[in-house]
Amino acid sequence: MKTDLLTRLRQATADVHAELERHALMQRMLGGAMSRPDYCLYLRNLHPIYAALEAALARHALHPQLAGFDLPAMHRAEAIAEDLVLLCGEGWASLTLTPSAEAYACAVTTLADERPELLGAHAYVRYLGDLSGGRIVRGRIAGALGLDAGAGLAFYAFGEPDNASLLAQRLRRALKALPVTDGLAGELVDEAVRGFDRHRHLFDDLEGLTAAAQSPAVN
Ligand code: HEM
Repeated sequence: MKTDLLTRLRQATADVHAELERHALMQRMLGGAMSRPDYCLYLRNLHPIYAALEAALARHALHPQLAGFDLPAMHRAEAIAEDLVLLCGEGWASLTLTPSAEAYACAVTTLADERPELLGAHAYVRYLGDLSGGRIVRGRIAGALGLDAGAGLAFYAFGEPDNASLLAQRLRRALKALPVTDGLAGELVDEAVRGFDRHRHLFDDLEGLTAAAQSPAVN
C-alpha cells in the first residue's frame, strides 16, 4: 500500500523533530526559564516567517495543491504582532531580526514565486507544530511570564476551545488528500526537512544572542 503524504512527512521529520525538542532554546521554554525579552525576541523572529507564509498561501489559495491550506483561522502573524505589542511595546519591530529568520522568510517568498506547490510543507511544519506541541509550550510560557489570564498568548489561541483540534484535523485531511505524484511527495518531504533545519539555525541564532547579552562586555 502507498504511504500517504502525512505519514511520509511525519516519518521523515521524526528525528529532526526530536532534535529540536532537545534544543537549548526549546528546553529553556519547556523548563519555564524563558525571560520576557528572550520570548519577545523569539516572537519577533517568527513574525516575518508567518507573514511570508500567510501571504504566500493567500496568494495561491486557488492552486490545486494548496486549496486546503489557506485557513485564515490558522494565521498567526497578526496574533504574534498583538502579543509583541503587549509584551514589549509598539517598538517591537526594532528588536533584532536574525539572518536565519530573514533567510527563512525570503525562502518562503521565493517558493511562492517559483514552486508554490511546495508551500504545503511549510504549512505542515509550522501549523501542525503549533496545533500539537504549541499547546504544551503555551502553558510553560504562561507560567514563566505570569500570563495566566491569556493576554500575551494570542499566538496559541485559535478561537473556540475545539478549534485547534478541528484545524489540525483539516490540515491533516488536506495533507492526506493532496493529489501528489511520488516525485512531488518526495520534494514536499525534503522541503519540510529543510523547514525543520531552518528552525535549528534560527534557534541557534537566538541562543547566540541570549548568550551574547548575558556575557560581560570585554575591556
Ligand atoms: C518544545 C518543543 C516541542 C514540543 C514539546 C513538541 C511536541 C509535539 C507533540 C506532543 C506533538 C504531537 C505528536 C503526535 O501527535 O504524535 C508534536 C507534533 C508536531 N510538531 Fe512538535 N514539539 C516541539 C517543537 C516543535 C518544533 C520546533 C517544530 C517545528 C519547527 C514542531 C513541529 C511539529 C509538527 C509539524 C508536528 C506534527 C507531526 C504530525 O502529526 O505529523 N515541533 N510536537
